Amino acid sequence: MRKKIVAGNWKMNLDYTEGLGLFTEVINMVKDEATGNQEVVVCSTFIHLHSLAQLAKGYNKVSVGAQNAHQAESGAYTGEVSAKQIKSVGAGYVILGHSERRQYFGESNELLAKKTDTALANGLKPIFCIGETLQQREANEHFDIIKSQLVEGVFHLDADKFGQIVLAYEPVWAIGTGVTATSDQAQEIHAFIRAELAAKYGQQVADDTTILYGGSCNPKNAAELFACADIDGGLIGGASLKSRDFTDIVKAFN
Ligand code: G3P
Repeated sequence: MRKKIVAGNWKMNLDYTEGLGLFTEVINMVKDEATGNQEVVVCSTFIHLHSLAQLAKGYNKVSVGAQNAHQAESGAYTGEVSAKQIKSVGAGYVILGHSERRQYFGESNELLAKKTDTALANGLKPIFCIGETLQQREANEHFDIIKSQLVEGVFHLDADKFGQIVLAYEPVWAIGTGVTATSDQAQEIHAFIRAELAAKYGQQVADDTTILYGGSCNPKNAAELFACADIDGGLIGGASLKSRDFTDIVKAFN
């Protein structure tokens, strides 16, 4: 049975002390909530990762992740951080292809395919983000966009490697806007994604793949979203910065 994951994406927020404080609160609040095949993942900035990973060691349902990793194994890339370095501090996941990286840092599907390969080669589980802009949806291009992000970003992987991937559908127009996709809109895309996985890798791989929803997910809408057949959890931005809200989203599965 595929994992149910609630992942927090802190983005570029919280100094070192604030981050440790929030994570300590979150662990204390979720440690008894994430049961069975559920997992909680907190994707902090690089400055927090080692300390959070140490704190998470005592809780097998809580993991930490990064929000990006360079595509090279190592080298003269000033300011960058490699997948090997991220793994070395105890992180298990890495968000790749977030729309903010695609938009602000020009990350293409081709580059993200390379980032995915390097992350997998170093034992990290990519949380691979896909999603359309409002303009693309209004032009009825969203299915084509999502399919191209899959084909060019991760469909080069064989079935075994793809089995390490968590997908996150994040409609760009819902990120940070307070405008959440309706559960029908989200389920439609998640079902489309799962059908594309089945066509590429077969039904078993499709059924085993965790597909998260991201975009203004909050305690009020999480339960309805997570009740959808093809939504396996959430990638949470703003609400992950508040321990009570994040915990309430984790509880939304119960
Ligand atoms: O990666 C998750 C993030 O993009 C969603 O942000 O604030 O809309 O939950 P938010």
